[in-house]
Amino acid sequence: MSSRVSEAWEQLRASCEQCHGCGLGATRTNLVFGVGWQDSPVLFVGEGPGQQEDLQGEPFVGAAGKLLDDMLAIIDLGRDNCYIANVVKCRPPGNRDPSEEEQAACLTYLYEQIALIQPKLIVCLGRIAAGALIQKDYRITRQHGQWILKDGIWYTAIYHPSALLRDLSRRPETFLDLLSIREKVKEICPELYL
Ligand code: URA
Repeated sequence: MSSRVSEAWEQLRASCEQCHGCGLGATRTNLVFGVGWQDSPVLFVGEGPGQQEDLQGEPFVGAAGKLLDDMLAIIDLGRDNCYIANVVKCRPPGNRDPSEEEQAACLTYLYEQIALIQPKLIVCLGRIAAGALIQKDYRITRQHGQWILKDGIWYTAIYHPSALLRDLSRRPETFLDLLSIREKVKEICPELYL
């Protein structure tokens, strides 16, 4: 990575650390900026930090994160060769959905992360991320697993790991979605499997 790009990452993180663009900045313990390989062709986007993430400052470190690790293993990926971020970088109190205003205030940071990472493929984890990045009013029950090419990036969405913890009946179809993601990654990011 060039020093110009690493400087841009540092500046972006510093802007997020100082951000009070919505009310969530006042109640967070830690900013949850994102984690992983900043040059990865594959980006996973969740909804927003939960309690454990807020305490530890890292995405998907609670129960849903353990399941996400298992899901990554099915695609032959790990935290070291993909990037993981969220639509909002501060925890919505009580794990409620982030509001439209909170999402709008934070999305510019995610767009900047996407511009720096330049992923070939983005996997939205759940309805909120899919609604923010793929299509407003995205219907996760009907549209999960579909592929959309937008501005040179392939997008898909799968059920959020928290939903899969609550509802085991969604797991078989998610397994099929993961196999489809694995095929797509192999096709367009062969370098990840060398
Ligand atoms: N759920 C999310 O959407 N993101 C996290 O980082 C953790 C749980």
